[in-house]
Amino acid sequence: MHNLTLTQPEQLADTEFLRALPKTELHLHLEGSLEPELMFSLAERNGIQLPYASIEEVKAAYDFHNLQSFLDIYYQCADVLRTEQDFYDLTWAYLEQCHAEGVVHIEPFFDPQTHTDRGIDIEIVINGISRALQDGKEKLGISYGLILCFLRHLSEEAAFATLEQAKPFLQHFVGVGLDSSEVGNPPEKFAKVFAAAAELGLKRVAHAGEEGPVEYIEGALDILDVQRIDHGVRCTDSDAMIQRLADSRMPLTVCPLSNTRLKVYQDMSEHPILELLDKGVCVTVNADDPAFFGGYLLANYQALSNALGMTRLQAAQLAANSIEASFISDEEKQRLLKQLQDVLDQLSA
Ligand code: HPA
Ligand code: ZN
Repeated sequence: MHNLTLTQPEQLADTEFLRALPKTELHLHLEGSLEPELMFSLAERNGIQLPYASIEEVKAAYDFHNLQSFLDIYYQCADVLRTEQDFYDLTWAYLEQCHAEGVVHIEPFFDPQTHTDRGIDIEIVINGISRALQDGKEKLGISYGLILCFLRHLSEEAAFATLEQAKPFLQHFVGVGLDSSEVGNPPEKFAKVFAAAAELGLKRVAHAGEEGPVEYIEGALDILDVQRIDHGVRCTDSDAMIQRLADSRMPLTVCPLSNTRLKVYQDMSEHPILELLDKGVCVTVNADDPAFFGGYLLANYQALSNALGMTRLQAAQLAANSIEASFISDEEKQRLLKQLQDVLDQLSA
């Protein structure tokens, strides 16, 4: 845990306080940041007929009852992304939002197979995203590390083929991840391809324990040798797992609005993130797929304040965890943690 000091710790965290905290975002699917407005303009630019007549109709369709009901629409929407400029525009829009919300470092995901399976070259995807990320670093001061995710509903051979296609672009990403339909696609299905990624010097993360059981978290740790667990909230089914995560400071990239929109919890008041924080688990706050789940990073922090009475000190601890859990250097972590403490000193002066 971090030794942050704050003179008024019991105060509820409000939007301006939350915005001022230097934060990282470690669980964000770029395809999930495709806003309906941009989707319509890309559809027009690419001459694509959407199955929706209006933005209102799109938003009405975003009424999910579980992960799969979301994924079906999410993959359909991604079809408007065709050119390098489309991937640039998608990424740039997300970066502008980060800039407005006090996000200083990001490690976003992208799903190459969603695009290569439609006949789009991986080079187009990676170049568009990377060019925007580089512009974001230069023009907005947001540092980054890109993470390539394998789709777990597809085979391990398909994941290997994707890793092979990505090899010429290795310098563009820091790690690999595992996403899509969780239940029935356990971590061990991808043991060999994660080992191959480790051999290439890549970091590993995996979605586990979103809808799937605590055994999937265990599998991600023991078989995939991950440095972070994405979601991981089902660890609450096992005191032993909570203890293991806390003792090892294994980060969980938790996504509160995603969890309520996909009915992992019926109401935000049931969300365990602050209990896990208080037990010493390195939980972080993230938006997952903000265009589909009703809010970016700040809205996720705000929801915890509104529904769970998150204090300013808890919010600052979550921001500090997001720095600790990132793949930046130790020097950079120390610099950002100091920046965070400076902000707290100023705000409570
Ligand atoms: N879970 C699994 N796959 C995903 C998600 C998620 O929350 N978002 C985008 N792909
Ligand atoms: Zn996710």
